[in-house]
Amino acid sequence: MRSVLVTGGAGYVGSHACKALASAGWTPIVYDDFSTGHRDLVRWGPCEEGDIADTARLDAALARHRPDAVMHFAAASLVGESVRDPGATYRRNVAGTLTLLEAVRKAGVGTVVFSSSCATYGRPDRVPITEDSPQRPINPYGASKAMAERLMADFGAAYGMRGAALRYFNAAGADPDGEAGEDHEPETHLIPRALMAAAGLLSRLDVFGDDWATADGTCIRDYVHVSDLARWHVAALDRLAEGTPFLALNLGTGRGRSVREVVAAVERVTGRTVPLAIGPRRDGDPPVLVADPGRAKDILGATPRFADLETMVETAWRWLRRRRS
Ligand code: UFG
Repeated sequence: MRSVLVTGGAGYVGSHACKALASAGWTPIVYDDFSTGHRDLVRWGPCEEGDIADTARLDAALARHRPDAVMHFAAASLVGESVRDPGATYRRNVAGTLTLLEAVRKAGVGTVVFSSSCATYGRPDRVPITEDSPQRPINPYGASKAMAERLMADFGAAYGMRGAALRYFNAAGADPDGEAGEDHEPETHLIPRALMAAAGLLSRLDVFGDDWATADGTCIRDYVHVSDLARWHVAALDRLAEGTPFLALNLGTGRGRSVREVVAAVERVTGRTVPLAIGPRRDGDPPVLVADPGRAKDILGATPRFADLETMVETAWRWLRRRRS
């Protein structure tokens, strides 16, 4: 059976990717240091505990399982933390990716699918954002993802390693079967925080500014269901196996939703009120980020199954209630 080593496979997007891989007939081998991942999210294949910066462990895991490909999710993913402690983010996301790519090359694995971000675009001149928009990240997190993409492209040119850099917009929702979901500590993302406020687990939801030049004054993002993201990773693997050398694709729905629209969806789904406090803008927040998903549609067939916000919120709500009960 074909197998894939999944770094960060016990995390939010990584665990959903493992499920999608398993249902497409792959064996996902989770490689995770459990600094932020969860042991109970390793459900679809074997597990190797280790850090991507640990060459010896990586070598051993690659030798033991001889995977056909690698999916790379392990990363520091908090934008605010990356601003406060850039060294930690660069160490993990850039040096860690380099260590991984070296090990992967030594092991003779020719294919890597990488979890990148729309944060590599920074504050775009134009929305929707195409893949040809300039990558001008405005924080160390976005810069670290752009640097890791560059490492992949250079390894591709030098060693023929095939790669896909998948630039997600805002991953949202949870596995519709309730087998995986989002569980961050601290939780910083809008949908889970709004749900926590609805559930009384937070006293209120702080809205980061309502004076933006958008229809209702709040920021607009392109929320994309995590199970759709996961399926499109498997599709990227298929394209690379067919011979495509390098792909950089935006993964979003192409639809923007404001913070207020998200709050309204949370109130409809939960039947509860979300107590709000309108606060100042958050540093580094671009007002509008929306993908042009055209290229990913053409190349991966990336049409969302769960495009509506309600489904994203509803699956996340079921997951949160089960997780916190
Ligand atoms: N927001 C609030 N209150 C909150 C949390 C978020 O108003 O408590 C707002 C933010 O200002 C933003 C929107 O809700 O406008 C979404 O914020 P998230 O923190 O959920 O997501 P981001 O758009 O900041 O971050 C996402 C990914 C990052 C990635 C970034 C690219 O989670 O990994 O997109 O900009 F870097």
